[in-house]
Amino acid sequence: MNEDKLISLLHEMTIDEKIHQLIQLATFFYEGASDKGEITGPLGDMGISKEVVNNSGSVLGASGAKEVINIQKQHLKNNRLGIPLLIMADIVHGFKTIFPVPLAIGCSWDLELAEKSAEIAAKEAAVSGVHVTFAPMVDLVRDPRWGRVMESTGEDPYLNGVFAEAFVRGFQGSNLTNEKYRVAACVKHFAAYGAPEGGRDYNTVDMSERQLRESYLPAYKAALDAGCEMVMTAFNTVDGIPATGNKKLMRDLLRDEWGFDGVLISDWGAVKELIPHGVAKDEQEAALKAIRAGLDIEMMTACYAKNLRTLMEKGEISESLIDESVFRILQLKQKLGLFENPYRDANEAEEKEIIMSEAHRETAYSLATKSCVLLKNENILPLQPQQKIALIGPFADNGDILGQWSWHGSRDDAVTFQEGLKSKVADNNLLVAQGCEVESINAAQLDEALSVANQADVIVLALGERSEMSGEAGSRADIRLPEAQLKLVDQLSKLNKRIVTVLINGRPLDLHGVVEKSDAILEAWFPGTEGGRAVADLLYGDVNPSGRLTMSFPHTVGQVPVYYNHFNTGRPQGAEDAQIRYVSQYLDIPNEPLYPFGFGLSYTTFSYHNATLSANTLSRDGDLTASITVKNEGDMAGEELVQLYVRDVVGEVVRPLKELKAFEKVTLQPGEERVVHFTLTEDQLKYYHADLTYISDPGEFSVYIGPNSQDVTELSFELVD
Ligand code: BGC
Repeated sequence: MNEDKLISLLHEMTIDEKIHQLIQLATFFYEGASDKGEITGPLGDMGISKEVVNNSGSVLGASGAKEVINIQKQHLKNNRLGIPLLIMADIVHGFKTIFPVPLAIGCSWDLELAEKSAEIAAKEAAVSGVHVTFAPMVDLVRDPRWGRVMESTGEDPYLNGVFAEAFVRGFQGSNLTNEKYRVAACVKHFAAYGAPEGGRDYNTVDMSERQLRESYLPAYKAALDAGCEMVMTAFNTVDGIPATGNKKLMRDLLRDEWGFDGVLISDWGAVKELIPHGVAKDEQEAALKAIRAGLDIEMMTACYAKNLRTLMEKGEISESLIDESVFRILQLKQKLGLFENPYRDANEAEEKEIIMSEAHRETAYSLATKSCVLLKNENILPLQPQQKIALIGPFADNGDILGQWSWHGSRDDAVTFQEGLKSKVADNNLLVAQGCEVESINAAQLDEALSVANQADVIVLALGERSEMSGEAGSRADIRLPEAQLKLVDQLSKLNKRIVTVLINGRPLDLHGVVEKSDAILEAWFPGTEGGRAVADLLYGDVNPSGRLTMSFPHTVGQVPVYYNHFNTGRPQGAEDAQIRYVSQYLDIPNEPLYPFGFGLSYTTFSYHNATLSANTLSRDGDLTASITVKNEGDMAGEELVQLYVRDVVGEVVRPLKELKAFEKVTLQPGEERVVHFTLTEDQLKYYHADLTYISDPGEFSVYIGPNSQDVTELSFELVD
């Protein structure tokens, strides 16, 4: 269908048909759905008629070729003009083949594999009938109390931006209309959902516009620059106004300033939530505020469906405002080719062939090996095949390693740690005990664990959080491991055996009670379907760990938020003239995190030398090369992540102590060395000034290069006019 036909279709639609295009309902509202959910709770009083469902524009959560085809077929019969439904779902880190959670993918720093994972997720979802995924989630995160940090790639604006692009490319490909097996992406949650006060989900967000623009907005913008078709609004307020009714965010910034002309959707129920937020007295006012602010689709509440006609008749909004939104939705349907083929790639036979294929599982495995981060290793890893291993802990043989937002994945398909280790050691050398539940322990469990541990050379502890302990509505005020697991570690540590801890969790944890009692710690996050296999290969050195943290691990929750790109303050710790007391510090813990951004160990060691800059000055139209030699000093091949940070020493407004500007991975054989080059230009030195202009300052800059954000070599140059 061409643009002219779309316009005539819009003109053929009645005002009600237009308004109903703007509602999005869950699958169970539709004829043809297999799972007829009950409309209870807040949905019970949605008060929508069958007519609304028949005219609705999109459905949430449908998948499975058979069901989607049924729903679409039935819908086309019920819809007067035969306008197909858009099928949307949360395909966040895999469809059925589950990849590590996004925070773990971040720790791989591997943009190619990240893109590949999104491409595979899109392919599996597409044959299953999905047209749009509610991903990528690119909210910048600094507070591990917030459960949704597991959905983000971490605390750095630049890194989140390049991952956002990679995910969008993976989902959408280069041509959504002509390429098979691609889905449209919907970047979320606009804006700054990752900064809720106290880390409590859905809570207030309040920050300066400079902070918003500098740290929080770049990743959304990067996703849009990569062609992302949709944007989802956030639940939170931004500067006192809920994002879903926030004109400044949607019309002024997204539409006018950034030129975004795709579809804007609310988060689940967020339009009606303008009432409890306290900016709308009823559903009608909520609808008015959201549509005026620029929101196209209302997800799972019916404020638009029930009120837009009245608002139009009252002269509060014009029909053209509604037309704008409807037209954007029709355009997306057109782009996806749905008018010609409303089922797109849904195909039962291909589902069987494509989903969870060997190749998909291999990519999940590779990404899992690259996502795990070795945090500590006191000469114990890699393990030796002849050692007798006691595998203990609630995750020893547990399929709960997929993480939240893996709706379609099955724990039964996951390779558990026990299954992974079985391929490494002879049966009689692998002893297993659960030791405790995730949140409780009894005497029998503890006794069994102690007896098993007593027989072994090395204890491998598999500890962590259930997946429900992070993700949406998964905030925690205490981010240590649950008491039961701390007790288990404590008791086992008294045996004086060597302990290797593998962690399964969705957030940086406070590791007290674990770190000092473990000889090694491997942070495995929620590693996905192939998790057990990947972890076993890492523990035995078949693969050398290469993951690096993208979110700082605090010493304790009282240090949160702790992130590497912070300001110096007027009284920094460690300054030459600093007093003993009156400096910015804690009396009881260091200022630095336990493990900093960019940190991760390898089984080999890398040395850095000969850091140089190609010149002492950089002109605005020129460039500068920073180089460093990295050498593998050990006897195992390994992958090193070389990171480059910059500091603007004197700015008009205060600049962070370090900002990541570039990184490169190098694989080096034992004894091999390589010179790594980075190019710097003026563009990378710009920032938002007092009046929010985005420019650079002439003057001195520091450059830091190293294996993480703390252990760096410093150089400096001057930016000249
Ligand atoms: C979440 C979104 C998600 C939506 C639809 C909401 O509760 O905040 O991230 O896309 O549900 O499932």
